[in-house]
Order: sequence, then C-alpha cells, then structure tokens
Amino acid sequence: MGKLVALTVLGATLALIGERLLTFRARVTTSREIKSIEPQSCHLIAGLENGSEDIDILPSGLAFISTGLKYPGMPSLAPDKPGRIFLMDLNEQNPKAQVLEISEGFDKDSLNPHGISAFIDKDNTVYLYVVNHPHMDSTVEIFKFEEQQRSLIHLKTIKHELLKSVNDIVVLGPEKFYATRDRYFTSHFLALVEMILDFHWTYVLFYSPEEVKVVAQGFSSANGITVSLDQKYIYVADVTAKNIHVMKKHDNWDLTQEKVIHLGTLVDNLTVDPATGDILAGCHPNPMKLLIYNPEDPPGSEVLRIQDSLSDNPRVSTVYENNGSVLQASTVASVYQKKMLIGTIFHKTLYCEL
Ligand SMILES: *[C@@H]1O[C@H](CO)[C@@H](O)[C@H](O)[C@H]1NC(C)=O
Ligand SMILES: *[C@@H]1O[C@H](CO)[C@@H](O)[C@H](O)[C@H]1NC(C)=O
Ligand SMILES: *[C@@H]1O[C@H](CO)[C@@H](O)[C@H](O)[C@H]1NC(C)=O
Repeated sequence: MGKLVALTVLGATLALIGERLLTFRARVTTSREIKSIEPQSCHLIAGLENGSEDIDILPSGLAFISTGLKYPGMPSLAPDKPGRIFLMDLNEQNPKAQVLEISEGFDKDSLNPHGISAFIDKDNTVYLYVVNHPHMDSTVEIFKFEEQQRSLIHLKTIKHELLKSVNDIVVLGPEKFYATRDRYFTSHFLALVEMILDFHWTYVLFYSPEEVKVVAQGFSSANGITVSLDQKYIYVADVTAKNIHVMKKHDNWDLTQEKVIHLGTLVDNLTVDPATGDILAGCHPNPMKLLIYNPEDPPGSEVLRIQDSLSDNPRVSTVYENNGSVLQASTVASVYQKKMLIGTIFHKTLYCEL
C-alpha cells in the first residue's frame, strides 16, 4: 500500500514537472518576429553602456539611473566593476550622463544597484532609495541627494528578514515603501528550477519602521512596481506570467487586486507617464535569448504603453521595438515631457524624443 502511494505521488510529481517544463518552454520561446519600431529621434547615451537597470525621473526632469547590476543568470559586460548611480538633466538640449559621487563611509565597491525610487519630502529634500545586492544579499539603501554637489550622502541601510531577493521598490513616505520579491532561492540553479516549476510564491511587501508585512502574494516573479498618479493604485509587473496586476491601495497599506492586464510578453519594470498617467513597461520579447546570451544573436527590446489601465479596455501600443541590433534586454522606459529614456539589464541606454 505504502509503495503504491509513493508511486502515485512520484508519478504525479513527474507529471507536474513535465507540464511545468512545457509551460516554461512556451513562455520563454517566442516565434514572433521582432519588428523595428522607434520614435523619430533616438540616440544612445555615451557612458551608459553596461546596463541601466532602473530609471526614475523627478518632476524637475532630473533622471536617476542605476547601472552595473550583477544578477545570477543574467549577463554582465563589466562583471568586475561596482555598480553606480548616474544623473541626467532632461531639460538640457543634449543631456549627458554624469556619475553621482557617493559619500565616504559607504562601501562603494559592493554597490550592486537594482530598483531605485526617489522620494521628495515636505521640505523638498530628495531622497534616493536603492535596492542593493551587496554580495548577493538584499538591502535598501537610503541616500540624500545633494543637487549642487551632484552627490549622494548615504543615510541608512535597511535590512529585514522579509526583504529578501528584492527586485524593485516604490517609496510613498519617509521610510515607507512597497518592494517586490522576485524569487526565493539565490543560487542560480535553484532559482532556475524555481522559475521552471513556477510556485507562484513571490510577493509584494510593505515596509515602514513600525510595520513590515506581505501585502500581496501569488506572483510567479514579482518584478517592477510603481504607483498611479493619484497614488490610489499600485501596479506590479509579474515578469514570467507576462502581466501587470493593478492593485488598490488601502489606508492600512494592504493591497487588493483590481484587475490583471495580460501583455503576452515578459514585463520587467514599470513607470507612469507623469503627463498622461499611462503605464510604460520595459519588456523582454525573446527571453530565451536572455537566458542563453549570445552577442551574435542577442535578445531584443520592447517598450509598451498602456492607456486607460483602469478601464475595461486598456489600450496597449508599442512605443519601441528592436531586435537587439541597437538595444538589448530593455527593462524600463521613463518619460519626462516629450523625452524618453530606455534602460537595459546589462546593455546600452537609449534617449528618444517622442
Ligand atoms: C563597459 O564594460 C567594458 C568591459 O568591461 C569596459 O571596457 C567599458 O569601459 C565599460 N563602460 C563603461 C561606460 O563603464
Ligand atoms: C527593473 O528592471 C530589472 C531588470 O530586470 C529587473 O531585473 C528588475 O528586475 C526591475 N526592477 C527594477 C527595479 O529594476
Ligand atoms: C536586426 O535588424 C537589423 C536592422 O533592422 C538587421 O540588419 C539585422 O539583420 C537584424 N538582426 C537579426 C539578428 O535579426
């Protein structure tokens, strides 16, 4: 009897693994042709050629860009260089990227920046929150931005047992933020197994000094996160599930799901166009080429604009699409007035006039 049960369980497990493997293969291989779509005027930004994982633009037009992410399973063109934060002033005619100095006392060599989010307090002081992976750990670093000196003063490192494998962050108050966890395992192999078996066990976390809690769960791999212009909704990208969850934010910071927008392409980081409220999504149109990187046959890039995301019929249009000849592995697009910056995991950074 015991043997029969064991055999049944084994059979069911193997069937599940087989089914998940097939689903995984279908998810990461795309037969679709990558077209060439781009706004009128685009050029690459000098000095940002080894990644620009996340981009956050202030209402004043100053853009923060994180570069040099080292992430298990993802290519890095400069594996020995520490990560850095750059600044661009999008009000300039021909904006240039400038590295931000970081104050003494912070271990700059271990900076491995992932998601970033700027927060402006009542006194107009700008704080930059940076998801950091020093030695593949996860912390959130808080910096104060000194505009005159073009520098970041390190104020604080936040660590918490629920802040593990953090991907992205959106800050909504002093030391109050939502963060996504994109995986459980840190080892590359186990993380790949986790991605294939798709346990739907990643989550969104709310952090404040008083309370830390999981506020939404069941994501295949929760990735980019951002907030609507009216601050009533939180948008979460589930990268491997190829969709965006629109979540309603409650007074106690809990989130409930309003709807899911299916995009049919791997969705990475999200931003909101400050002029229209549209969601901009950086996407990976051919993920297999990202998992098995070959510079001769590179992964492409894709940026989608989602209009009327709260309506019954959100409209999705393509803002940018490229087969990797110009831009590889786009993660994020951020807009200021009629200007757009497109960032990538490990490749270049594109500036476009819309
Ligand atoms: C990018 O990485 C390459 C290879 O390590 C290096 O030669 C180059 O200087 C880096 N570029 C920047 C802007 O850091
Ligand atoms: C944004 O983009 C990166 C790129 O993958 C992605 O890995 C990261 O996961 C996203 N989140 C943030 C914050 O950047
Ligand atoms: C990518 O597109 C460019 C121009 O549109 C084309 O010349 C090139 O052959 C394409 N590359 C691949 C790998 O399809």
